[in-house]
Amino acid sequence: MRFFLVSGSHRQGSQSGKITRWLAQAIESKDPSFKTDILDLADDPLPLWDDAAWNVDSSLSAQIKPYKERVAAADALVLVVAEWAGMAPAGLKNFLLYLSSKECAHKPALLVGVSSSRGGAYPIAELRMSGYKNNRMVYIPDHLIVRDCEAVMNASVPEEEHAGDAFIQNRAHYSLKALIAYAKALKAMRAEHDLLDGAFPNGQ
Ligand SMILES: Cc1cc2nc3c(=O)[nH]c(=O)nc-3n(C[C@H](O)[C@H](O)[C@H](O)COP(=O)(O)O)c2cc1C
Repeated sequence: MRFFLVSGSHRQGSQSGKITRWLAQAIESKDPSFKTDILDLADDPLPLWDDAAWNVDSSLSAQIKPYKERVAAADALVLVVAEWAGMAPAGLKNFLLYLSSKECAHKPALLVGVSSSRGGAYPIAELRMSGYKNNRMVYIPDHLIVRDCEAVMNASVPEEEHAGDAFIQNRAHYSLKALIAYAKALKAMRAEHDLLDGAFPNGQ
C-alpha cells in the first residue's frame, strides 16, 4: 500500500512540512509494507498552471509528469493544508489544478488543516467544496485539524504540553486508521469496476 502526502505550505520551515513528516512516519509504523512519498511544496515549488499543461508535448507537461506518476503510484493521499488568511495556500490549489482522474480517481484522501492558533477549519471547508471535481479523489469523511501546531507533533515536547499533544497524536492515528481502511476498500473497488469514461472527463 502506497501513500502520497502533500505538504501544501510553500513556506520554508513550515509547520505543515513537520506535520506531514510526522504523518508519514505514523503511516509507516502501522505496517512494514506501507510506503510513503512526500511532496513538500516549499522544497519543490511547481510553476503556476497555464494552458501548456493541456498539451502533452509541452515542456510544462514534461516537468509535471513525474509528479503525476508519483500520485498515480499511490493508493491513498494526505493533503496537509495550512490556513493562510482563511484560505488554502495557493501552491496547493495550483498542484490540484495539474491532477486528473487518471492519477486520482476514486482514491481516498485525508484532509489535514493546520493552524498556529485556533483556526484550521476554513481550508478544510474550502477543499470540501473544491479540488476534487475533475480529478475525483475521494475526501474521506474524517478530517484532522492540527491547532496550536507549533506545540504539537515535535521531536521533543515540553512537559506542560503533553496533554494536548497526546490528544492530537491519538486523533491523527485514528484518522490514519480510517484512511487505511478506505485505501484497502477503494483499491478493491477500482480493481472491480472500470469507472473512467473519456466521455465525461470533468465530473459534469
Ligand atoms: C500568509 C499567512 C496567513 C495566515 N493566516 C492565518 C489564518 O487566517 N488563520 C490561522 O489560523 N493562521 C494563519 N496563519 C498562521 C498559520 O496557521 C501558521 O503559519 C501555521 O504554522 C501553518 O502554516 P505553515 O504550514 O506555513 O507553517 C497564516 C500564516 C501565513 C504565512
